[in-house]
Amino acid sequence: MANDGLKHTPTELETAGSRVLPPADDVAARFKVLPHPNLTSEADWKAAMSDLKFGMQFSDHMARAIWTVGRGWHDKEIVPYGPLSLSPAAAILHYGQEIFEGMKAYRHDDGSIWTFRPGYNAARFNASARRLALPEIPVEDFIASVVQVVREDERWVPTGEGTSLYLRPFMFASEPFLGVHAARENTYLMIASPVGAYFEGGMKPVSIWVTRNFHRAGPGGTGAAKTAGNYASSLLPQQEAAEKGFDQVCFLDAREERYLEELGGMNVFVVRKDGSVVTSKLTGTILEGSTRSAIIRMLRDRGTPVFESLIALDELVDDIRKGEVTEMFACGTAAVVTPIGRLASEDFEVELGKSDFAVSVYNQLTGIQNGHEPDPYNWLYRLA
Ligand code: COI
Repeated sequence: MANDGLKHTPTELETAGSRVLPPADDVAARFKVLPHPNLTSEADWKAAMSDLKFGMQFSDHMARAIWTVGRGWHDKEIVPYGPLSLSPAAAILHYGQEIFEGMKAYRHDDGSIWTFRPGYNAARFNASARRLALPEIPVEDFIASVVQVVREDERWVPTGEGTSLYLRPFMFASEPFLGVHAARENTYLMIASPVGAYFEGGMKPVSIWVTRNFHRAGPGGTGAAKTAGNYASSLLPQQEAAEKGFDQVCFLDAREERYLEELGGMNVFVVRKDGSVVTSKLTGTILEGSTRSAIIRMLRDRGTPVFESLIALDELVDDIRKGEVTEMFACGTAAVVTPIGRLASEDFEVELGKSDFAVSVYNQLTGIQNGHEPDPYNWLYRLA
C-alpha cells in the first residue's frame, strides 16, 4: 500500500524510548544526596525566578557520576551545583568527546512535577554515547539523576505559563590524556535551569537564513548524535545569519546541497495547503528530535498525514510562492514549537504569513506536558 502519511511505524529510538520505566521512588536512591552547605537564599532565589530567560540561572544541585575502565559507573551523587575541578589535559578540552540531552520538568496545577518522555532521552543519550565511543549509562541511573536533582530543587521548578525547569544531562571525557583514544575516565553530570521561552519573542515567528557556505553534518559523521561538536560547527553560520538580520540558520544536506536538514538545535516542519505536513526524513545526518517524534505521532493520530521525506529547497520556495505551502515551524525541547515567518538565502526571500497550525500543535503538545490535556501516549513521567 502506498504511504498515506498516517501509518506510524516506530523508529528504533522510539521503540527503545517507550520502554516502561520504574517509578521514580524505585530509582531515586541510586544517587546519594550529599549535604549542601550554602543553598541559594530566599531573596536570591526569588530574584532568579522573577525574570526567566533561557539557560541563565541554575538550581542548587547537580548529579554527578564517574565511569572508569574496569569499574564502570561509580560515585553517583547529588552535589552542590558549582564549578568543576578538571585537568587541563582532560580529553574533552582537546577532542570534544561529549554528549548531552535536553529535557524539561513541568509543574502541574496540583503542585506535582513531571517530565516528558525521559525514556526517549535516555535511549538517545545512549545512542549518542555509542557514536562518540562513550560508555552507556543504565537508563535507571539516567532517570535517577533527574529525579533526585528535581526532588532536591523542587522550588526551582517555575509555575508561570511557558516556563519549566530545563534539564541538561551530559557526559564528557575527563581522562587527562593527550593521545587520541576513547577516554578511560568519563564524567556524567545533570544540571537544571529554570527557563522561560527559548526565543524571547515566544510564539512570534522567527526568520531563517539558509546557509550555502556551511554544513552541519555529513554522511557517516555525527549529525544524528547530540554531541557538542555539531553545535560548535553551527556557531559561525549562526553568526552569519544573525549579521544578516535573521534569527536562526538552516542547513542543507552536504552531499547534494539541496535538501533542508535542520536548524542546528531544532527540527523543521512544513505545512501544505492540502492539509498534509512534511518533515525532513532521518537520513543519519539530522537529530531525531523527541519533539519531532511527538508531533508526528500526534498529527497522524489527528488524521493529518505526515510525510518524512527529503525537502528540496528550490521546490519548497516555489511552493511557498504558489501558496501550496502555507506554514513552516521549528521544534525542539528548548524551542517547543516556533513558527517560521521568513525564509531566505542568497538567491531568494519568501514570507509565510500564517501560524495557526503551529499554534494548534504548540497547544496540543504543551497541553499534555502541563497536564491540561489527557496523555494518551503515557509520555509523562512523575518526578515528584
Ligand atoms: C534542546 O532543544 O533541548 C536542545 O538541546 C537544543 C539546544 C539548542 C538548546
